[in-house]
Amino acid sequence: MSNKKNAPSLGDWDRQYVWHPFTQMQEWEQEEPLIIESGKGPYLIDTKGRRYLDGTSSVWVNLHGHRHPALDRALDQQRKRIAHSTLLGLSNPPAIRLARELIAIAPKGLSRVFYSDNGSTAVEVALKMAVQYWQQRHPEKGPKNRFLHLKLAYHGDTVGAVSVGNIELFHARFQPLLFPTRAADPPYCYRCPLSLTYPACDLACLDPVERVLKEHGRELAGFIIEPLIQAAAGMITQPPSYLTRIRELCSQYEVLLIADEVATGFGRTGTMFACDREGVTPDLMALSKGLTGGYLPLAATLTTEEIYSAFLGKYEEFKTFFHGHSYTGNPLGCAVALANLEIFRSEHTLARLQPKISRLSALLKPLHQFPHVGDIRQQGFMAGIELVRDRPTREPYPLETRIGHRVALEARKRGLLLRPLGHIIVLMPPLSINLQTLTRMVSILSRSISAVTQHA
Ligand SMILES: Cc1ncc(COP(=O)(O)O)c(C=O)c1O
Repeated sequence: MSNKKNAPSLGDWDRQYVWHPFTQMQEWEQEEPLIIESGKGPYLIDTKGRRYLDGTSSVWVNLHGHRHPALDRALDQQRKRIAHSTLLGLSNPPAIRLARELIAIAPKGLSRVFYSDNGSTAVEVALKMAVQYWQQRHPEKGPKNRFLHLKLAYHGDTVGAVSVGNIELFHARFQPLLFPTRAADPPYCYRCPLSLTYPACDLACLDPVERVLKEHGRELAGFIIEPLIQAAAGMITQPPSYLTRIRELCSQYEVLLIADEVATGFGRTGTMFACDREGVTPDLMALSKGLTGGYLPLAATLTTEEIYSAFLGKYEEFKTFFHGHSYTGNPLGCAVALANLEIFRSEHTLARLQPKISRLSALLKPLHQFPHVGDIRQQGFMAGIELVRDRPTREPYPLETRIGHRVALEARKRGLLLRPLGHIIVLMPPLSINLQTLTRMVSILSRSISAVTQHA
């Protein structure tokens, strides 16, 4: 509460002026906000000096910990030269170098980089590129301007990204603004829409996907997918080979494959990109979040020479990709992103991550002992724990029980910050976390789930 005798506190000003994302402000205004002032490694430190473990990597962006010296240095060095100049009609060294480095590590066949500012815009760029590609390269194939996506997909909050998304709670309100799409059931094995079990199912969930492609492929510009795991849907993991089969189907029915690696990119699934796990090259790939190691907003849409070349021509042919943002290719962001990639090399981030992924699996397994833990899903260093009201019937907790939120509040008391997705508890530690701290993190998580679900 504010101290009435003194000047208003930061908390008062927050409640008076700031509108927080994905937040019921009426509730927020009743509570004392947690204000993070600094960070170090896997810890966030608030204005009262309390330390918290960053259990979501600051909503899935942080990789090497907060205040990594090499990232700090890169930012410092670049700001001494220039903070920003435009990429419209000009270029800058960090943007050029970063594009080259991204292509060097991207799935083979991707050769061009288009910058933007966040995951949603990286997706918007991919959608617009796909539509314009078909218009310019194959006008004879008729209008190919629709998209296929999975149900429960999340690709961001701008209107195009919401159109190809399918999370009722977030998206239903905006229906009047959205363009029509085709949707297919996701491979949500815990709640299989076909009531089958993996691996005996033989990926039967691909049949309806193929049916849509067969019937509507002629009108489809692309199939957008979060490869290996639908994160915001509740960490819904895809069985092995699912992505490979999607790639094959897209090629067969002449539909571009758009991999939204905004959440999965940069080591999150154990390889640099989720597509690497199955040796898949998408036609377009959206990147953001971990691109700058969690330092600055920057995004990139990568594509192939085939797509890029469809935009070439004389100015008056108007094949130009008329899209861009004020901060496209921001030098500070690109300089930090370059340092981020250098850390992957110098600190062997991916090699050192493998035992942590195994340890995370081992640490999560005992959570099955709790009667309200329905499913534990993990893809690399991304984990989701689905809480259910009744395990035998898999009956979910109703939204209004706010079960995930209650677990997060309990964890906060014990020094761990979480951001659940409804009744699914998400754990996504920074890749740099050590085994001891990881163990502590899961221990707090376990005790918090136990404390809350005992009475729920
Ligand atoms: C797969 C995926 N795509 C796109 C986005 C949107 O990214 P941003 O919040 O940076 O716009 C997200 C964000 O969580 C995401 O998980």
